[in-house]
Formats: sequence, C-alpha cells, structure tokens
Amino acid sequence: VSSAHEGQTGPAANAIHYEVDAVVEPELRQLWEVVWNGQPRRPLADVLARSLAHVGAYDETRLIGFVNVASDGGEHAFLLDTAVHPDYRRRGIGANLVRQAIELARARGALWLHVDFEAQYASFYGHCGFRPTEAGLIAL
Ligand SMILES: CC(C)(COP(=O)(O)OP(=O)(O)OC[C@H]1O[C@@H](n2cnc3c(N)ncnc32)[C@H](O)[C@@H]1OP(=O)(O)O)[C@@H](O)C(=O)NCCC(=O)NCCS
Repeated sequence: VSSAHEGQTGPAANAIHYEVDAVVEPELRQLWEVVWNGQPRRPLADVLARSLAHVGAYDETRLIGFVNVASDGGEHAFLLDTAVHPDYRRRGIGANLVRQAIELARARGALWLHVDFEAQYASFYGHCGFRPTEAGLIAL
C-alpha cells in the first residue's frame, strides 16, 4: 500500500508499507517511547495477544506507525494507541493505519468501532470517518 500524499518528500514517503498482526513488543516499545515519552507499564505482548487486529507501518524494517483494535468478542471493537513517529506525520500514514483497522474490524465481525481522543485529534478522526459522540472515561 502506498501511503504518500502526491508530491511530498521526506523520509521515504513512498517506501512505507503496512503489515497486519505482525508488530512485536520490542519495536513497539521503541515507537511508544518516542510518541508518548515513556514506557507502558505492562507488557505489550499481552496487549498484542488479545488484539482483534493490529497494523504496523514500516519504513523498510523500521516500525514508524501503529494502531490496535481491541474487541469485546461481540459487536464492539475499540481503536487504541494510534501512533505515528513524529518525523512521519501529516503524510497520510495515520489515516492509512486507521482505514486498515476499520476494514479489519469489519471483516472480523465487529459492528461498531469506538474511539476516544483529545480535542486536538477531532479533525484527524473526523477525516478517518468517525462521527462524533459523547463518551466517558475514568482513570483507574
Ligand atoms: C494522531 C496521529 C496518529 C496522526 O497521524 P498522521 O500520520 O500525522 O495523520 P495523517 O497524516 O494521516 O492525517 C490525516 C488528516 O488528519 C488531520 N490531522 C492529523 N493530525 C492532525 C493534527 N495534529 N491536528 C489537526 N488535524 C490533524 C488532517 O486533516 C490530516 O490531513 P492533512 O495533513 O492533509 O491536513 C499522530 O499525530 C500521532 O501519533 N499523535 C501522537 C499520539 C496520539 O496522541 N495519538 C492519538 C491517540 S487517540
């Protein structure tokens, strides 16, 4: 899948490829550190093992983007941890990841895909086809 917006240059804009259910913990930890400035507190291998689907974006062999779809095992799936390396943003990679996650969730039986996000990402998720809804969240 080609990800580049027409005419863009930058780090290997045309060389990005996408892999389904292939991301492994060490490379995801590296990306996580850069995107969220810290390490997750629990093993990512547990997260990946329970995933309905996950997608990685690679520049050659380097993981530069990720998205995960969690499931309740029934009709509902939830988009989590959408991340693109700062050097690769605003060239359509995040939207490509989400587009593939939507198709995978649909193909694997979910009827609803949920996401929550900070206000600054409303336009990104709107661009990806999510319609706004009210949601709630508690930090446990
Ligand atoms: C959110 C994120 C994944 C977007 O990745 P990306 O590859 O830069 O997104 P895209 O290039 O596919 O963006 C597609 C469109 O979404 C919108 N968009 C993306 N990022 C945006 C931003 N920061 N502010 C406003 N609109 C944005 C734009 O309309 C963009 O199209 P344009 O570049 O032609 O204007 C990336 O910014 C990121 O990793 N952020 C940090 C991690 C995070 O907080 N993730 C959200 C978890 S809910």
